[in-house]
Amino acid sequence: MVGTSTADDAAAYRLENGQAIIQTVDFITPIVDDPFEFGRSAAANSLSDVYAMGGRPLFALNIVCFPTKQVPLEVLGEILRGGVDAAREAGIEIVGGHSVEDTEPKYGLIVTGIAPADAVITNAGAQVGDALFLTKPLGSGILTTAMKKGRMSDTTASEVIRVMRTLNRSAAEALAGLRVHALTDITGFGLLGHLLEMMHGSRTAARLHLPSVPLLPEVLELAEAKVYPGGASRNRNRTEPHVQWSASIAEAHRVALNDPQTSGGLLIAVAAEDADELARRLEQAGTLAAARIGEVIDGDQATIVIEAGSV
Ligand code: CO
Ligand code: CO
Ligand code: CO
Repeated sequence: MVGTSTADDAAAYRLENGQAIIQTVDFITPIVDDPFEFGRSAAANSLSDVYAMGGRPLFALNIVCFPTKQVPLEVLGEILRGGVDAAREAGIEIVGGHSVEDTEPKYGLIVTGIAPADAVITNAGAQVGDALFLTKPLGSGILTTAMKKGRMSDTTASEVIRVMRTLNRSAAEALAGLRVHALTDITGFGLLGHLLEMMHGSRTAARLHLPSVPLLPEVLELAEAKVYPGGASRNRNRTEPHVQWSASIAEAHRVALNDPQTSGGLLIAVAAEDADELARRLEQAGTLAAARIGEVIDGDQATIVIEAGSV
């Protein structure tokens, strides 16, 4: 049902009983020092691609690279314990895996999920008039870069870890029965990259209202001070030809909207009639953000218009 043609979050394969198997793999290098929190966030990041297809995870396998000669095995134990912690919250078990010796640790999950075939939500079905929602604040790439350079307050450090370790489960469950036309999660290509993939697949354009886009604390100050990952510049080069910024929008914001995220939130295109109900449900579910950030508009090709004012 879903393959490589639309840059979607996971593969979907229709079974004969009307269900669809959802299959994804994702693994990453350490983004924080604490091995348990790294494992937890990496697993949350991997699970997210099943939620981003409208699916529910069934089981997972570990994929591990680890320098067993240089780093004590207890560290690997903590990483795996973090993965188990995320899997338990997702209601699934990790039933196996594979590891190889490598100079740098890497960890993630292969996740198998399921959904009724007619309930699989791709990133390619957005319709003109849909409201766009985002369920986590942006900035984890900038903040983890700052963390590595030791320039961040402890409160912000724990805030960014909380964002990355949080599952998108409750956000995905809030969508049940609503007219969600397109769905994805925000990861390495940043908000604008993943929104562009959605608009490209849907043959539509989008308008964002900058004040409505949720950001983590300190993100703009750090971006202003040129503290951001290389991926933010690469993403920006890629998205810039398709983005129309209001002239007054500052440089720091242009970086932040291209910041690569680890385990970012869901990006939802929902029928305008269901937008208030979705906002209510996300707030009730306590998602880290329940932000209505813009809308899908008519456009010949994937374009994002970003306005400095609110809706
Ligand atoms: Co994804
Ligand atoms: Co992915
Ligand atoms: Co093997």
